Amino acid sequence: GRILYLTRHGESMYNLENRIGGNPSLTDRGHEYALQLGGYVNGKLRISQVWTSQLIRTLQTSAYIQDIETKRIQKPELNEILSGIFDHLTYEEFKAQNPKEYRQRELNKLTYQYPSGESYLDLCSRIEPIMQAMDTKENLLVVCHQAVIRCILARFQRKAAIEIPYIKVPSHSLIKLTWVDGKNLMEVIPFDV
Ligand code: G3H
Repeated sequence: GRILYLTRHGESMYNLENRIGGNPSLTDRGHEYALQLGGYVNGKLRISQVWTSQLIRTLQTSAYIQDIETKRIQKPELNEILSGIFDHLTYEEFKAQNPKEYRQRELNKLTYQYPSGESYLDLCSRIEPIMQAMDTKENLLVVCHQAVIRCILARFQRKAAIEIPYIKVPSHSLIKLTWVDGKNLMEVIPFDV
């Protein structure tokens, strides 16, 4: 059946600093993942299109895929969860500056909406139309972000909404979803980065 590949962007500067949101570039290690991902995709897969977010880190992660300029489509819907007024802060700074908001998010991570930003529920509705479009594509690779992939996996694996913000999405790995017998079979292909 239909095969869909998903990956998070490679390690970014903000990942290293435990910082939220922003539009950071990849670290050297993140670029190494991009290189290995490109090698794997070019050698082993027949990808029809590559959908990325509009953020630098997903564009850099897809940079080594053959003919990327013609295959790549940037989708604003795939951008990371909007962290509003807490964008660019580290989680520690967020907690120190606004312990009440931080606590609210800990207590109700699914419905907690960042002020001037989004909740996980908002994010899931934002990407719903594009998930339907993904379902109709063959051999599509989607390069996006942890929170976005959590919503995608929840829908494709029929997880309870309450679990969404805690789904573990491995970094520097390719997730392969194959639609067979009415469900999505998930395989994880880790890279040695
Ligand atoms: O940068 C945001 C991550 O992708 C998700 O972080 O677990 O705080 O929602 P979170």
